[in-house]
Amino acid sequence: MPPIGRSTPRVDGPLKVSGKAQYASDFHFPGMLYAVPVEATIANGRVVKLDTAAAQKMPGVRAILHRENIGKIFRSVQGPGFEGIMDERRPPFEDDVVRYYGQYIALAVADTFEAAKAAADAVRATYTKEKPNVDTALIADDEPQMVATTFGLTNRVQSERGDAEGAFASAPVKLDQTYVTPAETHNPIELHATTAIWDGSTLTLYEASQGVFNLQGILAQMFGLPKENVRVISKFLGSGFGGKLWPWTHCPLAAAAARQLGKPVKLVVSRKMMFQTVGHRPRTQQRVRLGATGEGKLVSLRHDYINHTAILDGYHEDCGESTAFHYSVPNLRVTFGRARRNVGSPTAMRGPGAVPGLYATESAMNELADQLKIDPVRLRVLNEPKIDESLGIPFSSRHLLECFELGADKFGWSKRTPEIGSMKRDGLTLGWGMAGCSWIAARFPAAAYVQLRDDGTARVASGTQDIGTGTYTILAQLTAQKTGVPLDKVEVALGDTALPEGPISGGSMVTGSMVPAVFEAADKAIESLLTIATTAPGSPFEKRKPTDLAFEDGRVFVKADGPSGGVSFADVLRRANVRLVTGSGKSEATFGNPKPKFSTHSFGCHFVEVTWQPEIARMRVSRVVTVIDAGRILNPLAGRNQIEGAVVMGIGMALLEHTSYDRQSGAPINSNLADYMVAVNADVPPIDVHFVDFPDKEINALGARGIGEIGLAGIAAAITAAVHHATGVRVRELPVKIEHLLG
Ligand code: MOS
Repeated sequence: MPPIGRSTPRVDGPLKVSGKAQYASDFHFPGMLYAVPVEATIANGRVVKLDTAAAQKMPGVRAILHRENIGKIFRSVQGPGFEGIMDERRPPFEDDVVRYYGQYIALAVADTFEAAKAAADAVRATYTKEKPNVDTALIADDEPQMVATTFGLTNRVQSERGDAEGAFASAPVKLDQTYVTPAETHNPIELHATTAIWDGSTLTLYEASQGVFNLQGILAQMFGLPKENVRVISKFLGSGFGGKLWPWTHCPLAAAAARQLGKPVKLVVSRKMMFQTVGHRPRTQQRVRLGATGEGKLVSLRHDYINHTAILDGYHEDCGESTAFHYSVPNLRVTFGRARRNVGSPTAMRGPGAVPGLYATESAMNELADQLKIDPVRLRVLNEPKIDESLGIPFSSRHLLECFELGADKFGWSKRTPEIGSMKRDGLTLGWGMAGCSWIAARFPAAAYVQLRDDGTARVASGTQDIGTGTYTILAQLTAQKTGVPLDKVEVALGDTALPEGPISGGSMVTGSMVPAVFEAADKAIESLLTIATTAPGSPFEKRKPTDLAFEDGRVFVKADGPSGGVSFADVLRRANVRLVTGSGKSEATFGNPKPKFSTHSFGCHFVEVTWQPEIARMRVSRVVTVIDAGRILNPLAGRNQIEGAVVMGIGMALLEHTSYDRQSGAPINSNLADYMVAVNADVPPIDVHFVDFPDKEINALGARGIGEIGLAGIAAAITAAVHHATGVRVRELPVKIEHLLG
């Protein structure tokens, strides 16, 4: 079987399990110092005095840095397109105003981590404080129709067609419900970390980053450096879930400390700080109004949502990401608002927008199905659109109906009896629920080079990252496919701004974006090889034209003679005394195209079974079938693994995850992995993942769309529907708690 489409274990697996993979905090340098930030213990107010005297005198302490002595850190600004993105724009220590609990107000630097931690704890801050606003009831702030967000100016009326209000008023069947999702915090096992080296005029950073080039541009601005003087390296990540997409304040702090002290500085964010200063998915409150005919045809859809955001920044959780195209409905209106709170800036978290958004809209569809006494799959089939009605253009490839069919079949959906609590097994009450999902598919700009070397090996390089999703493996597969070099002889280089510019590891777009770049680079390298084959003295192909030659499976041969008379490319290079040939390639972006010809998205559905024991109020997810339409799957093993991981996260989203802010102090109070619960092995049943195989040629030559995020979309709505089917309790505020079910 060729490399593409083959289930391939991670090529970087041995490095990881043997501890040889170096993460940002694994780099050590002579004379390196350790930095520990001092966190504000108020969420709203001002620092009036910092007493650093005791801390400064502690053993091993090199400096206590703060506003007065850290040196200049400039503001960065957003450029055109997607240049220079970050969610918390205010540089650290720019002023003495505290906007959220845990905001960094000073930085202790010492010879050891322990000394730095002790010194940070010994810094005394005096504040004037006001009551923080961390209210959970969200009312949209008074803002203009066009508002600044992380990605630029955005219209608060996100999508509109027909007369949604009028059609709702006259609809024979109506549903009007509000759904709430809590703040959730990314908890990758690898903590955020920076190791910074300031070497005269150049700054090198080892950073846990999902976007090294974006970070490079921002740091160049913050320190007033030429861009080429900043190098960011992020070789391995212990995942990120979106939390590591954009820079956070610890990173310039570490760089500034390295500059001030003339030594390499390491700063590792603590688990508690992970809840305060490096983003979270914001709380959302979403009102969904559906109008339908008695037969279940949608006539009106309104989705009006609010997300909380930070005081200074403009994060928009795009809950309407898929609302406007997911169903056929002539009258629609999607709007958003934001409510400012004394919290650190929210940021993108796996499936940003679509995940909470589809929880709301898919829950509403499930409730409408119950109201109409129609099967929820049938209700969706009835409202399946033929085109993207929000843009008036066709879908590049949409096979959601095939997903429903396969999913229902694998799950045994036809055996469902709709009455509450009507299904039993082994003394347990069963609940069955389902939901659909979608996620954007597009390409970012991407560049790569491929080298073929005289020892028969190849190297592929691009400054994108592998956040654990399998980018090393996919790039090896793409290169092996094109060059015939076996997978274990393909070297992959990622995560370094010294490499050709690669995309952020975000939006599930890396694989789709890299395909054209790697393929073009490999083609160019082969072209160069064939030129050498026809020009090098003594070459068996000397005096032939490159167009007479072919390259297949690592061998060069005369087209007319067929592959049997061929020579390996390593031989061609060695005979010519050439160590390597290099080809460069790039992909153009489709993301952000203002006039697309096709609407490009991935689709899918989840079927979920829960078991319910009312005697002991025990609710478990006992079975999941997920079917995904993501174009062609390049590595079914890695692909299935992404969907399984997302479903596990979805079980956590539905039943466990939430960040609580203390009303008095404004602190995230469950800021550790014991109190912030996520689904663990014992919570996770068998997950049966299937892909429908419809290559999407609008995305790339292989037809491969992304799979990193879609598995988390829709799953919470399927679980809450199953909970309702088992118990009769309709939970519209996540997570589902035992208290809800006892009522
Ligand atoms: Mo994903 S939240 O776009 O890293």
